[in-house]
Amino acid sequence: MGEAGELRYPVIAVNDATTKWDFDNVHGTGQSTLDGIIRATSVLLAGKVFVVAGYGHCGRGLAMRARGMGANVVITEIDPIAALKAVMDGFRVMKMDEAAKIGDVFCTATGMKDVIIGRHFDSMKDGAIVSNTGHYDCEINIPDLESRATNTYIIRDNNEAFELSDDRTIHLLARGRLVNLAAAEGHPSEVMDMSFANQFLSLCRLAAEGEQYENIVYDISSTQDSELAALKLATEGVSIDTLTPEQIAYASDYSAGT
Ligand SMILES: NC(=O)c1ccc[n+]([C@@H]2O[C@H](COP(=O)([O-])OP(=O)(O)OC[C@H]3O[C@@H](n4cnc5c(N)ncnc54)[C@H](O)[C@@H]3O)[C@@H](O)[C@H]2O)c1
Repeated sequence: MGEAGELRYPVIAVNDATTKWDFDNVHGTGQSTLDGIIRATSVLLAGKVFVVAGYGHCGRGLAMRARGMGANVVITEIDPIAALKAVMDGFRVMKMDEAAKIGDVFCTATGMKDVIIGRHFDSMKDGAIVSNTGHYDCEINIPDLESRATNTYIIRDNNEAFELSDDRTIHLLARGRLVNLAAAEGHPSEVMDMSFANQFLSLCRLAAEGEQYENIVYDISSTQDSELAALKLATEGVSIDTLTPEQIAYASDYSAGT
């Protein structure tokens, strides 16, 4: 909208702050998504094939936590760099067409529509659990699933069973909406604090300087990110080293070192 000149007011991209998406998206989503899936199913994750669509911030956190629970995690991606990171982090990476055949639990975390569609449902195992923790209920194509169902029923809260004509049953959690918000309690406040602090500081910035801003998208400053991270460390009781004047000089002197 900014590029198209459609914004009616300045916007600060809080989501893209390092102190937001490397923590809230990774650790908040990673933990609360598993919480939602478990509350809605009581599934044992150990030994299950857990398919994560998207290896961005949310997908990375989810994959890390699912592996920690003993799941055999498979990643699907469309971006070569993200896919390569997943490979080198030790995950199996494949197309959703292949993952659909072997997955026990699926969770989309892409921000994209139609990540799981009709032909994927056609090849899923009986009892497959399908969920989303990304953008919204369009990541899983629910009309495709509904059109294949001969019967549907709510088996427990946020868990709808779709019986298909070939006697398989697929479980859709939270109607494809964000499973961590619908079936659990969202992120712990201990990680949302940084996201909310970024929002608050951005509002302060707008109050102080907003009159001079254009109707475009502004980033969080790296200074704000660093200050916030330092404050968070202090609340955790963690101290870190600081560079000495000699080290600062060394870092900025190209003739020093190798
Ligand atoms: N559940 C929550 O509480 C929560 C929290 C934060 C963000 N989100 C949402 O989660 C989504 C992802 O956020 P993020 O920070 O991880 O974004 P991101 O951009 O870091 O990662 C998204 C990844 O999905 C990949 N992708 C896109 N289309 C794909 C497809 N068709 N198949 C497989 N992979 C695909 C991209 O290549 C990218 O690597 C966003 O929609 C965001 O709004 C949810």
